[in-house]
Amino acid sequence: MSELLSIQQLNIAYNDIPTVKDVSLAVGENQIIGIVGESGSGKSTLIRAVIGLLGREGRITSGSIVFQGKHLETMTPGQLRDVRGGEIAMIFQQPESSFDPIRTIGDQFCETMKLHERATRADALSRAGAILRGLGFDDPARVLRSYPFELSGGMCQRAAIAVGMACRPRLLLADEPTSALDVTVQAETVRTLMKLREDSGTSILLVTHNMGVIAYMADRVGVMYKGRIVEWGTRQDILLHAAHDYTRALISAIPKLGEPFVPPKRYEGRDEENAVKVQLSPTHWVLGEATA
Ligand SMILES: Nc1ncnc2c1ncn2[C@@H]1O[C@H](COP(=O)(O)OP(=O)(O)O)[C@@H](O)[C@H]1O
Ligand SMILES: [Mg+2]
Repeated sequence: MSELLSIQQLNIAYNDIPTVKDVSLAVGENQIIGIVGESGSGKSTLIRAVIGLLGREGRITSGSIVFQGKHLETMTPGQLRDVRGGEIAMIFQQPESSFDPIRTIGDQFCETMKLHERATRADALSRAGAILRGLGFDDPARVLRSYPFELSGGMCQRAAIAVGMACRPRLLLADEPTSALDVTVQAETVRTLMKLREDSGTSILLVTHNMGVIAYMADRVGVMYKGRIVEWGTRQDILLHAAHDYTRALISAIPKLGEPFVPPKRYEGRDEENAVKVQLSPTHWVLGEATA
């Protein structure tokens, strides 16, 4: 499978405090990669680094991020702005933060398309309508006329996904796209993302603390703990043959239908600075002690 995005030995620090440590991963064409880990593990930092949104304190200290053969980690802010919203789109946890609150969804579609493709307003609106319809909106015209606050959280997030798709990006970065939504709407958002991949072949790099979302969507899963990926595998590798205690703790916290909610046990692990990658199968590895 050809690689769309390749992250190699990436290290990121805020004010010189290491936050993302030695992360390597690849996103293939038409693949959904899920990174799961508790709050504070560095997921947002990792995903924001891809499009240069680390803020003033954040800095890539070493490693590379290569997208379609281009090194993103050395691009200027201007070059990154062109990539953002064009070839790479991003959606956030709070759907409203993808939008300008005082402009209609239709206007925001038009602006995104004009910025990147110089489309006319009529073209932009007609394509926007088609994208919304494709994502399951019954009344695209109404959505386009609406302001973000007029939509429910779930609709707003799905509209944000639609705007993200306006320029036909190859890669969608999704930072906790379902975490601010209630459970039924979460499922809708997850289905929208899956449909997107099916219909337009968009690859998705998704980060979340919710192992349930990962279990449903991801082809490949990375488990992140204290800034490191501690286990990596296919969804089956991770869900059926989890090898790291932290991965097991996350799996045991997936709520089960019809059973009482059991709060997850707090996992207290160390930063596995000196651990090595132990290959368990061609697709599955875990950080651990070297055995041989
Ligand atoms: N702008 C920032 N300045 C300093 N520290 C930050 C900043 N953003 C995040 N951090 C710290 O980096 C760590 C990882 O944060 P984050 O990437 O947001 O994790 P996650 O998305 O997994 O919750 C946390 O300890 C957080 O406090
Ligand atoms: Mg986060």
